[in-house]
Amino acid sequence: MKIEEVQSTSRMQRIAAHTHVKGLGLNAQGVAAQSAAGLVGQEAAREAAGIAVELIRSKKMAGRALLLTGAPGTGKTALSLAVSHELGSRVPFCPMVGSEVYSSEVKKTEVLMENFRRAIGLRIKEMKEVYEGEVTELTPEEAENPLGGYGKTITHVVVGLKTTKGTKHLKLDPSIYESLQREKVNVGDVIYVEANSGAVKRVGRSDAYATEFDLEAEEYVPLPKGDVHKKKEIVQDVTLNDLDVANARPQGGQDIMSLMNQMGKPKKTEITEKLRQEINRVVSKYLEQGIAELVPGVLFIDEVHMLDLECFAYLNRALESNLAPIVVLATNRGMCEIHGTDFRSPHGIPVDLLDRCMIIRTQPYSLEEVAQILAIRAQVEGISLGDDALPALAEIGGRTSLRYTCQLLTPASILSLVNGREKLTAEDVREASQIFLDAKASAALLLENGDRYIT
Ligand SMILES: Nc1ncnc2c1ncn2[C@@H]1O[C@H](COP(=O)(O)OP(=O)(O)OP(=O)(O)O)[C@@H](O)[C@H]1O
Ligand SMILES: [Mg+2]
Repeated sequence: MKIEEVQSTSRMQRIAAHTHVKGLGLNAQGVAAQSAAGLVGQEAAREAAGIAVELIRSKKMAGRALLLTGAPGTGKTALSLAVSHELGSRVPFCPMVGSEVYSSEVKKTEVLMENFRRAIGLRIKEMKEVYEGEVTELTPEEAENPLGGYGKTITHVVVGLKTTKGTKHLKLDPSIYESLQREKVNVGDVIYVEANSGAVKRVGRSDAYATEFDLEAEEYVPLPKGDVHKKKEIVQDVTLNDLDVANARPQGGQDIMSLMNQMGKPKKTEITEKLRQEINRVVSKYLEQGIAELVPGVLFIDEVHMLDLECFAYLNRALESNLAPIVVLATNRGMCEIHGTDFRSPHGIPVDLLDRCMIIRTQPYSLEEVAQILAIRAQVEGISLGDDALPALAEIGGRTSLRYTCQLLTPASILSLVNGREKLTAEDVREASQIFLDAKASAALLLENGDRYIT
């Protein structure tokens, strides 16, 4: 199994509407402040989420499910993102939306399975024999291509590595030269080369080359201590899905036809059940030997009422397996039909799954809370508010929805610019809300003159 060069497959998180949320805003005792870390109100739900985070950190939460329920726009998605912030980047957090499972190419359970495996992390600790140091020399040796043709091939590459103790010159294989190029290694960088696999890792640029700039992309590291050739503990965080992807071999041979066939195939189907079982086996061996440590993360399924019976049955089963993350579900549905059936069930979720869930409710916001959230949003979006803007916005928020009002901020600020004002006023807000209708106003208009539309 390859683990040296596993590429991370974790996804970029969707943020835009939730950029202001930085965490749950709880104190050391787990009590929520009225407004902290970008979150306002909703104290009970935040404290409950805080306990879940504590359980996840102490690894007692695997295989359980949390369900966030509440009316639209009461902060369910925001809360789950806050949970992911609290967990930090070392614990995998895999967000998905219920409707993602519907694809004409990939089976529903396959999508769920992939996301489950994205949410289970593995911390692999290995003592490795490495050559580490600052690069003092990097000279590829070239020779005529023995197969003829133009150009030259690299026969080997000479690398000089310096530590505090001394300098060593290594003669390395041409394939390592390729990895050196891939990592964009230059003279003056600190690198290590793994002795048995030849994998190259660039640690950063040596301190000696630090420049005077205040702001730079480069990370500077001190000159490594000890010998160039040594044993070093290397810690790598991967998810099970990373391992699946890294070990999925492209099928078919090297001839044109099979290459063409491969192009047509979606890459996702390459990961077979057999491969997964194989990886599970190796992983359990690692766990037994203590080389690796399991880090159960969070699988967040938003709009969970979009799943159908097949998916729910799969979820039930997957939750019981020994390699399970904690599953957080969110829905804004009340009593409704389970997707694709006529069965009615609370939240559109079958009762047997509901039975496994701990349910957290989010409450509607008061007018002051709406105003507070809007003030935070305005700050994040760089909009300065006049004195009368916030009450006007909150009033609209009370009539319509929090989300609509948040979205109104930017158009209103553009209107105020056009009107030559520096701060947003109540007038701009009202003007914007007349140009852009909210759902209720649009529905009311439809009732009035629905006969002019095609039905
Ligand atoms: N307590 C809060 N503090 C700060 N911002 C909040 C809070 N609750 C919600 N928001 C913000 O309000 C907007 C709507 O909330 P969110 O998307 O989380 O609602 P939701 O409960 O997921 O709704 P839906 O059921 O429609 O998915 C988001 O921009 C969110 O960041
Ligand atoms: Mg949501």
